[in-house]
Amino acid sequence: MAKQVSNGENHSAAKPPPTPSPLRFSKFFQPNMRILVTGGAGFIGSHLVDKLMENEKNEVIVADNFFTGSKENLKKWIGHPRFELIRHDVTEPLLVEVDQIYHLACPASPIFYKYNPVKTIKTNVIGTLNMLGLAKRVGARILLTSTSEVYGDPLVHPQNESYWGNVNPIGVRSCYDEGKRVAETLMFDYHRQHGIEIRVARIFNTYGPRMNIDDGRVVSNFIAQAVRGEPLTVQSPGTQTRSFCYVSDMVDGLIRLMEGENTGPINIGNPGEFTMIELAETVKELINPDVEITMVENTPDDPRQRKPDITKANELLGWEPKVKLRDGLPLMEDDFRQRLGKPGKN
Ligand SMILES: NC(=O)c1ccc[n+]([C@@H]2O[C@H](COP(=O)([O-])OP(=O)(O)OC[C@H]3O[C@@H](n4cnc5c(N)ncnc54)[C@H](O)[C@@H]3O)[C@@H](O)[C@H]2O)c1
Repeated sequence: MAKQVSNGENHSAAKPPPTPSPLRFSKFFQPNMRILVTGGAGFIGSHLVDKLMENEKNEVIVADNFFTGSKENLKKWIGHPRFELIRHDVTEPLLVEVDQIYHLACPASPIFYKYNPVKTIKTNVIGTLNMLGLAKRVGARILLTSTSEVYGDPLVHPQNESYWGNVNPIGVRSCYDEGKRVAETLMFDYHRQHGIEIRVARIFNTYGPRMNIDDGRVVSNFIAQAVRGEPLTVQSPGTQTRSFCYVSDMVDGLIRLMEGENTGPINIGNPGEFTMIELAETVKELINPDVEITMVENTPDDPRQRKPDITKANELLGWEPKVKLRDGLPLMEDDFRQRLGKPGKN
């Protein structure tokens, strides 16, 4: 079993990791890597599945309740002998024999995670407990997709992994932000107490094909609006910043983290920083120069700035994003045009 190196602080496990199934050690067995992806029918999850399925030594099981994900995202794999899709809610225990767990299941956009906040926090807390229980039982390595939201409205800029965050514990976003913070705590407690092999990724804003249209996230909003020929609605003041990572870069970072020896937490995101007005202007220029840009009221607790410090990802995983925003947006445009039934430029 690979040695695990914690990221900075002392997170060393008190116990050795649980032993994987005896099948793993059989002299005559040529094992495939059995990988569970929770939330694998969603945006990032389905791209991760595509990448994992490229390796013929991987068997992939997706567990998803289809709250925000869809079978459509996985349709090319349904029926493939190395692929299984299970309709399953992670707030219930799951018993499957696997070697790795990518635990992504959780609605990621505010519209969806605020829709049923109690369910969101249950997904984060009970769902993560269930997946850690599974990892413990079968001796699997588990990776959690945490979020830059654990930094809240950050008081340091850019955010590195040693920053503890500035999070409102009782706001409308807390079900997600605090839910992910508890999920991280559970990961490290299982690691220290039970020796579970953990990996924690702190994902910053990611974009690309298969994002839910009209899910309230800024890139999908602007692209859908531009394709439909509607005004691009920038939430005031418009000077708030975000950084955007193209999904293929994100998937590459997650796989490197899983395969490497560091527990994390490790930021994975693109440090290129844009104001919302700059983003709207870029979408307008690249997708539909005829649309207007208008200002609308902001939502509560919207962070003013977000930019990952990716020094650790760079040093420990040899990872850095490759796709520039100006190259990634047109790739997403094609997918949105198809799904919106607007094939040509307006
Ligand atoms: N997209 C981003 O910019 C971003 C940023 C930070 C963190 N993340 C994290 O990455 C992960 C994936 O995000 P995404 O953008 O692909 O979101 P998504 O909503 O497209 O995917 C989430 C998937 O989880 C499934 N799901 C939700 N609740 C579930 C439950 N209780 N049981 C089983 N399945 C459930 C959904 O049906 C969906 O398929 C999430 O954990 C999210 O918090 C994403």
